[in-house]
Amino acid sequence: MKKVGFIGWRGMVGSVLMGRMEEENDFANIDPVFFTTSQAGQKAPVFGGKDAGVLLDANDVDALSSMDIIVTCQGGDYTKSMYDKLMATGWKGYWIDAASTLRMKDNAVIILDPVNRAVIDESLNKGIKTYVGGNCTVSLMLMGLGGLFQNDCVEWIQSSTYQAASGAGAKNMRELLSQMGVLHASVAEELKNPASAILDIEKKVRDTMRADSFPTKEFLVPLAGSLIPWIDVQLENGQSKEEWKGMAETNKILGLAPATIPVDGNCVRISSLRCHSQSFLIKLKKDVSIENIHEMLKNHNQWAKVIPNNKEETIHELTPAKVTGTLSVPVGRIRETNFGKGYISAFSVGDQLLWGAAEPLRRMLNILVK
Ligand code: HSE
Repeated sequence: MKKVGFIGWRGMVGSVLMGRMEEENDFANIDPVFFTTSQAGQKAPVFGGKDAGVLLDANDVDALSSMDIIVTCQGGDYTKSMYDKLMATGWKGYWIDAASTLRMKDNAVIILDPVNRAVIDESLNKGIKTYVGGNCTVSLMLMGLGGLFQNDCVEWIQSSTYQAASGAGAKNMRELLSQMGVLHASVAEELKNPASAILDIEKKVRDTMRADSFPTKEFLVPLAGSLIPWIDVQLENGQSKEEWKGMAETNKILGLAPATIPVDGNCVRISSLRCHSQSFLIKLKKDVSIENIHEMLKNHNQWAKVIPNNKEETIHELTPAKVTGTLSVPVGRIRETNFGKGYISAFSVGDQLLWGAAEPLRRMLNILVK
């Protein structure tokens, strides 16, 4: 059995990964070894009923190099500090990573096997050893719209995102909920009285969210009751880095030359907890009917689900409230637009921690060990 070292298994993405691996009984196929940056020597956790001995030091290159496979959810700083050192030892194992650090390197593959299994298999045959999970919005777009890409229907795509707090991290999720609580508390008494004036309530909420005491350490500004139209750092071309990833990663995942399919749009943080949603304007390359599009999307993978374009099904099926905690990637609002023939709209929702983070890593590990 392959020795698989896990780093960052206690964090948010790592915890989702451990949970999914237990659900799928994946630990039965591996010898797990757990690393830590602070508690080496302490008892390792037991997942899937496997005794993994004690925790090893995540900064110990010798310990790392005795693994057949390393799976890290520890974050980009860890990857930056350890990957080169480990590779310098001549290590021949496989490195599976959730962080973005190595994604665009020539010797790394972005993994999303329901979409790019052929790219993964070809890379394995070539001896490539580094496999990196994609950006969550990109992975979720490709899971939802995979059928259109597979059938070479997309000339370009514009995506406006509605991204959850979880994409920014665990502390941000807590801050969002704290913000919601503070806002509610500021008008709790007035809300009990149906006769109180809504504009007075709104004014109090507004003053509360603008006060210096409002909790904004992580997001820097209010998110609850508001939104933040910028995610990640600023690039010189006016895009945010999150927006830049849309085109760069989509083409790389699909095994295409950079910029083959233009992708652009605004990325926006909203107040959902762990589901990213996206609104698309898709320029089709070919004349395909809406029914054909439905078929392509449904046939591409078992998680993409077409939601008929009516109000009733849309408001119940195409929301973070419905999708959170599931692997389902519903796509709806599929219709022709006022822009003319071949300009299609669509809307998708997906759990940012599952297909957007942990699931592609779990499945890559299975590709290597089965
Ligand atoms: N960068 C994403 C976000 C999450 O901030 O929502 C990870 O891909």
